[in-house]
Amino acid sequence: MDPLTPPHAAPLPPPIRRIAVDRSPTTVAAPAAATNGHGHGQPSGIVGGGRHAQRAGRAGVERMRLEDLSISYGRKLAVNRVSLPVRQGEVLALIGPSGCGKTTLLRSLNRLIELTPTASREGRIMLDDQDVDRMEVTHLRRRVTMVFQQPNPFPMSIFDNIAYGLREQGSSRPRREELEPQVIDALERAGLYGEVSENLDHPALRLSGGQQQRLCIARALAVRPEVLLLDEPASALDPRSTARIEDLLVKLRDEVAIVIVTHNLQQAFRIADHVAFMYLGELEEYAPTDQMFGAPRTQRSRDYVSGAFG
Ligand SMILES: Nc1ncnc2c1ncn2[C@@H]1O[C@H](COP(=O)(O)OP(=O)(O)O)[C@@H](O)[C@H]1O
Ligand SMILES: [Mg+2]
Repeated sequence: MDPLTPPHAAPLPPPIRRIAVDRSPTTVAAPAAATNGHGHGQPSGIVGGGRHAQRAGRAGVERMRLEDLSISYGRKLAVNRVSLPVRQGEVLALIGPSGCGKTTLLRSLNRLIELTPTASREGRIMLDDQDVDRMEVTHLRRRVTMVFQQPNPFPMSIFDNIAYGLREQGSSRPRREELEPQVIDALERAGLYGEVSENLDHPALRLSGGQQQRLCIARALAVRPEVLLLDEPASALDPRSTARIEDLLVKLRDEVAIVIVTHNLQQAFRIADHVAFMYLGELEEYAPTDQMFGAPRTQRSRDYVSGAFG
């Protein structure tokens, strides 16, 4: 077997194809409020495998909280009164059909949405009990960093890509030797150091797509954020690079809260601890992953996770 494929990825059944729809789904007790941090459902028995044992009973520490968040572009409502917790210690996956507001929601968390002139926002976003609107925006964006769908390394060396954010941080310009330990640490945490340790001065753009994306993750981690946002980070990558990134995110969730947008239901199933299913800007359902795929509460969630519409 390909040594780079994490063991959990190999035998995993495609859960969404195995849900029987010709009978009522097993109902499990609804998790207590979606917001209390302890609402993990029981694995339903319909799905099973690698990650389940690990994620059952995980209860992370809340880092961010969205309260009644609404976002419009001009008069068009893109996100409608969404409330959600974001916790360290778990991966939160945002799923839903194209155009349902996933990217818009994600970009609001570190106020990147403000770069879109027509966008306006209502509701509160709290980071460690501080309103993000009251925070200095560059400070916020160091605490809540983002990785995009297309890897976007800067046209500079591997080393300088990672050092960039660190240099921005300080008032004086630190020397390379001072930054090196942090650069190496970030590359290690992103699972890339072993492949580039001899080539730190090579242009980042010479790396493969999967390596470039891990470099972008390293760059996002270098400033020691509390929350890492990823918008379809693997959708431009081959399956092997995708598996590496999935594995990495599961490892990182204990040190940083992770929110990932994915259109790939199996990816959400493999790596998420909680899933938020959005539909036409609304939060249709928020549930522990096992419940979302095994016993979703609403008919629309059932249809979506069973692949009835995309
Ligand atoms: N910059 C923008 N200006 C106007 N409308 C936008 C803009 N970006 C997204 N939208 C609209 O907002 C809705 C949500 O989009 P988006 O957040 O990108 O959804 P998703 O990521 O789920 O595909 C869609 O109807 C989309 O057309
Ligand atoms: Mg999107």
